[in-house]
Amino acid sequence: MTTNDFIPKKKLDLPEKGSFKWKAPSNIALVKYWGKLEHQIPANPSISFTLDACATTTKVTFEKLTKPSEGFSFDLIFEGSKKESFKPKINTFFERVQEYLPFLRAYHFTIETSNSFPHSSGIASSASGMAALSLCLLSIERSANREMSDAQFDKKASFLARLGSGSACRSIKGDLIQWGNHQGIPESSDLFGINYPFEVHPIFKNYHDTILLVHKGEKVVSSTVGHGLMQGHPFAKNRFQQAHDNLQKLKDVFSKGDLDQFMALVESEALTLHAMMMSSSPYFILMHPNTLRIINKIWEFRKTTQTPICFTLDAGANVHVLYPETVKEKAIQFIQDQLVVYCENGHYICDRIGNGAKELKV
Ligand code: PMV
Repeated sequence: MTTNDFIPKKKLDLPEKGSFKWKAPSNIALVKYWGKLEHQIPANPSISFTLDACATTTKVTFEKLTKPSEGFSFDLIFEGSKKESFKPKINTFFERVQEYLPFLRAYHFTIETSNSFPHSSGIASSASGMAALSLCLLSIERSANREMSDAQFDKKASFLARLGSGSACRSIKGDLIQWGNHQGIPESSDLFGINYPFEVHPIFKNYHDTILLVHKGEKVVSSTVGHGLMQGHPFAKNRFQQAHDNLQKLKDVFSKGDLDQFMALVESEALTLHAMMMSSSPYFILMHPNTLRIINKIWEFRKTTQTPICFTLDAGANVHVLYPETVKEKAIQFIQDQLVVYCENGHYICDRIGNGAKELKV
């Protein structure tokens, strides 16, 4: 498929007004996307668990303008109040997707959005937020094009979400989503996420992710800047190759349910992501001292109790603690007894693998 396939071919008989509402989850990458090319094309393939509890709910109300606007006409309401500071990001997103949603200038939009997790929790809302917004906007097109199948809808929603925030393309469906061309994965694409097409052992169903909120403030360096620093990075070539290799290795790991290999690979990916940040120019560190304390505690607990519990990190200080359903009680007890002390105000979020976005009644 090419980008052209996402441009509507027929003239759409668009509604005068209406509204759509979607709830889209966040996701946590196992093999990390870090580095991008033009038009939000990833420098390497990635794979993630779709989450369940951490989600953004967005309602888009639209009404036809008497004449198409020059710029984009929209209001942005975040958790009940107008939020002007979010508008430039939405405007950039509209610019990137207007070719694929050619009706954007024909309407005034009211975008009401809220997150299930606290705003300043250090959890990025861009993946769930861009996924929810893309689903609402694409629902307008679908209402005027009943020929669009569910599969086409999901693919295009992922394609649009990627243009808002790369990892958002992995937040449309569940529960294991792969994004980015990979030789060993036939349907893989740089343009959208796909359901992982190979066998996955039941141990990976109902996997848990307890998110330890180590630092809730703003990150010192944004993901956009971080991705950019992979250009000309001395280790970039090897890192991108490593991501390809790790995805290949995961095929066996997933089919066999090999938790030891899974944990080794996922932790290595997390540390490599941060190693790339620490070795870019300029260099930076997003981990905090408590991030490292938690990692060491997890290693110690795993060694002494043989419990299959591991960590991963996103581009921040928070720690995602991953474990299968079979050790849930033990893991929660350990987290409460030994890890919560390292969380800001003792805050953490119990999440688990989920099934993707849902349309809600307006
Ligand atoms: O989607 P972005 O541009 O916010 O980048 C996300 C990058 C990581 O979260 C660090 C890794 C990933 O694959 O999600």
